[in-house]
Amino acid sequence: MALLVAAGSGTRVGGRVPKQFALLAGRPMIAHAYDALVAHPAIDEVLVVIGAGQEDMARDALGTVRTVTGGATRRESVARGLAAAGEAERVLVHDAARPFLPAEVIDRVLAALDEADAAIPVRAVADTLVDDGGGVVPRAGLHRVQTPQGFRRRALVEAHAAWPADEEATDDAQMVRRLGGTVVLVQGDTMLDKVTYPEDIAAAEARVAWETR
Ligand code: CTP
Ligand code: MG
Repeated sequence: MALLVAAGSGTRVGGRVPKQFALLAGRPMIAHAYDALVAHPAIDEVLVVIGAGQEDMARDALGTVRTVTGGATRRESVARGLAAAGEAERVLVHDAARPFLPAEVIDRVLAALDEADAAIPVRAVADTLVDDGGGVVPRAGLHRVQTPQGFRRRALVEAHAAWPADEEATDDAQMVRRLGGTVVLVQGDTMLDKVTYPEDIAAAEARVAWETR
């Protein structure tokens, strides 16, 4: 089963509606990732985590789909989704803010779960990295983490239960790892880069236009 987390307010993108409901390549952003998850043969169910009061926007964007109300942080939204996720052995967690989701990435994440508690898609860091003092931080061995992240559901449930309420986590795999779970890296995809700032919308549209040229 898959959780599509879409309960954020999209403050950095701004705009009239939260970014996941804004039009991207002609459709509400959330619809792209939703369709990709539903279309994948190994995913039997998609549960959409939305913000309180976003029910009408979700229905306009997706039609009648199963939703659950998220929380104030991404971590809380995932936890609420998990609580409604049933007994599936494996769960994928995907950001609605990563609209273009190649089926091959889902394949890689699910395949890696045969050997691990969590599997995360990553990309190499392209820019030179420096610390506050301007000293170069070697980027070999560093990766940017994307979603969908895959989990043995029990490992993720335990990780959320054990996580301190006053600490934030921007990603679920780090929570599983803290409890001693195994996390493996698989190859991500540029298409999955997150829409975080207003200019990322145009960049995402350009990427999909390039891909389907
Ligand atoms: N998310 C969520 N619940 C929250 C916060 C975030 O479900 N309380 C989701 C977002 O909808 C998004 C994903 O987590 O799909 C990644 O978060 P981010 O890119 O930070 O989105 P927002 O939190 O909406 O944006 P911002 O931080 O700019 O407000
Ligand atoms: Mg956020």
